Amino acid sequence: MPAEETFEHHSYDVVVIGAGGAGLRAAVAAHEAGARTALICRSLLGKAHTVMAEGGIAAALGNLWPEDNWKVHFRDTMRGGKLLNNWRMAELHAKEAPERVYELEQWGALFDRTPAGKISQRDFGGHRYARLAHVGDRTGLEMIRALQQRAVSIGIDVFMELTVTDLLKDGGRIAGAFGYWRESGRFVVFEAPAVILATGGLGKSWKVTSNSWECTGDGHALALRAGAALLNMEFVQFHPTGMVWPLSVRGLLVTESVRGDGGVLVNSDKRRFMFDYIPEFFKAETADSIEEADRWYTDKANNRRPPELLPRDEVARAINSEIKAGRGSPHGGVFLDIASRRTPEFIQRRLPSMYHQFKELADVDITKEPMEIGPTCHYAMGGVEVDPDSQASLVPGLFAAGEVGGGMHGANRLGGNSLSDLIVFGKRAGDYAAAYVKELGAARPQASQADVADAAEDALSPFQAGPTRENPYAIHQELQETMQDLVGIIRVEHELREALDKIAALSQRAANVSVEGNRQYNPGWHLALDLRNMLLVSQAVAIAALERQESRGGHTRDDYPMTDPYWGGQNVVIELAAPSGADAGATLSSRRQALPKPPPELAELLEGDH
Ligand code: FUM
Repeated sequence: MPAEETFEHHSYDVVVIGAGGAGLRAAVAAHEAGARTALICRSLLGKAHTVMAEGGIAAALGNLWPEDNWKVHFRDTMRGGKLLNNWRMAELHAKEAPERVYELEQWGALFDRTPAGKISQRDFGGHRYARLAHVGDRTGLEMIRALQQRAVSIGIDVFMELTVTDLLKDGGRIAGAFGYWRESGRFVVFEAPAVILATGGLGKSWKVTSNSWECTGDGHALALRAGAALLNMEFVQFHPTGMVWPLSVRGLLVTESVRGDGGVLVNSDKRRFMFDYIPEFFKAETADSIEEADRWYTDKANNRRPPELLPRDEVARAINSEIKAGRGSPHGGVFLDIASRRTPEFIQRRLPSMYHQFKELADVDITKEPMEIGPTCHYAMGGVEVDPDSQASLVPGLFAAGEVGGGMHGANRLGGNSLSDLIVFGKRAGDYAAAYVKELGAARPQASQADVADAAEDALSPFQAGPTRENPYAIHQELQETMQDLVGIIRVEHELREALDKIAALSQRAANVSVEGNRQYNPGWHLALDLRNMLLVSQAVAIAALERQESRGGHTRDDYPMTDPYWGGQNVVIELAAPSGADAGATLSSRRQALPKPPPELAELLEGDH
């Protein structure tokens, strides 16, 4: 660091890190509650990963099925999460999602309509009723457009292309954040007593992922280093349908809307194999042929669902089994066919992005031929342990909302529940962060000069060539291979141990990473800093996966194939045991913690058929 460098300083009440759905909604709430609010994002405003959530926002509006209500949505969410959800979050989410959707509409979101002019709702896996408010297959994009317009129109300060590398504390409390402009590499200090993490997911540690470059688990890592706990990190969702070909876009999301709108899964024997994986409780009637079963399961008048709309974990495992059994497609996936089930007009109207995505990237016309798809790492159910009402973490002044928060989705998230999660808990985090700052009054925590200097030194360390001059790209690639091969859809103890050994070795190498050039737009340097987060969070996932000795939702153990009632009452909590600066080889510890039980009136909703 040049001796004469002075850092840019800003002072706010609330700093929101991340400008996806949760961050934007949190910033709007905090600002409207009177807090001086800054919104920081690593990319340009409007480019957040939320735009990749295609299918819709789950909310019990009851527009197509008047029988739908928050209680059914609560039940579906808890059952989809294999009852490991934080019940209070699932309750708040189901109750508040409709209000948040109507609010988005008031702020300019243009939803597709029913013939009667109401917001249209589409089918998605695990939801008893068609419940996803949508805009074609570009719902996330429309959500971001509306929220962004709102944030800008009310005058929130936005810091674009800025990466936060450290949270600053005073004693035990949050005092601000430290980061750098990606363009110039110059450092910025934010003084603020409240920070909201809305940084999204962590999929970039896997080789095949639907996640964008920003999903490096930085919020999870910032929280750990600040002393917060992570909950149930073993639960990683593999979306059943990502592109498998061409290789350059392997993992890119193929929205569940394709199946919600009638698409079916077929193996290389041309068999609609999902009928072979229907769990006993879901098998309503025996059928002599697939055609007969199809008629029964797709009877819309009686609100029946085809097996392609089982929860994602079940569909992803079924696809995985077909591929492993040698019944996969030429490029290592299976086939998703909507062409033989719907007219070209229907497909182009309901799934315009999918039509263009396959046409332009794979030269496949999905109105005429099937798509090749396979599971892709999509979503982290685990995240920062927060209070369900306020989204406050264990560290005073630190809040988390959206994917980086833990608890809401239990062991498996239902499709569409993430966009609703973002706006429900984004608003709550913003409201409560603003209230926290108000209550503090003048007694604000202050970051020390020494901590700021340490943060700057840590951020610059990749420029000091380590003895082995490690390449950050090579380490990233090895990490992705490790997580893909050893901490994927199916796990087993010896592979998880092998993964942990490899992550430890990679962390040692990462301490010797060396980048060339200067601080201006230096992608090697950016990756070197992101790597620390990816390694720490990958370690958290592998430790938690080793700890949970059962199979449930997004965590399948080959050596513990059954769901175990004991584990149904346990959260796995991960904490930083031995903080060590830039954290090469940081030690994480895991412990079990009893899962809060729902009160009798909610527990009752989870029984029987509603
Ligand atoms: O399949 C999808 O459109 C993804 C939606 C989600 O993950 O909620």
